[in-house]
Amino acid sequence: MYSTVKVIHSYWAYLVLIILVIATINALIKTFGGKEYEARDFRISLFTLIVSHIQLLIGLVLYFVSPRFDLFGELGMGGVMKDAVNRLYLVEHPLINIIAVALITIGYSKHKKKLTSKSKLKLIAIFYTIALVLFLSRIPWSVWPN
Ligand code: HEM
Repeated sequence: MYSTVKVIHSYWAYLVLIILVIATINALIKTFGGKEYEARDFRISLFTLIVSHIQLLIGLVLYFVSPRFDLFGELGMGGVMKDAVNRLYLVEHPLINIIAVALITIGYSKHKKKLTSKSKLKLIAIFYTIALVLFLSRIPWSVWPN
């Protein structure tokens, strides 16, 4: 179970990051270029929302089936926080990614309520860019991509 979920989480991460980079660059170019908001922009933003939520769910399952989770019992919160690798996997990575997915969700729902192309694209550009930076900041780069 653990190794299967981990492989799925690891490969799904490529999809999340590729579609988020496309959605972010698209929104930034169109915002600064004063371009019109089109159905394609809506689809890219929605697809990013869906794949990032799926990754969050896979991550949550992985979190509780991972043998690493037992470290809380063995080392206690203090012991986990002292070690950079354990702190990354058990605290920083999940927490920061949950915040990033929340920002994608807020950005998506706020942009839907806007009426002008400029305000829609600007909201996606801001929220998706921050989410992308947060994701990249807590990827375990020592083991991924593998
Ligand atoms: C939503 C964006 C997320 C992305 C892009 C992402 C990406 C990754 C990547 C690339 C790895 C390394 C996989 C490997 O070793 O090959 C990883 C590991 C992990 N992720 Fe995520 N993750 C995300 C969200 C989450 C969330 C929300 C949680 C938990 C609530 C989570 C829990 C974990 C755990 C526990 C591992 C380590 C598994 C292990 O080695 O035992 N991830 N993640």
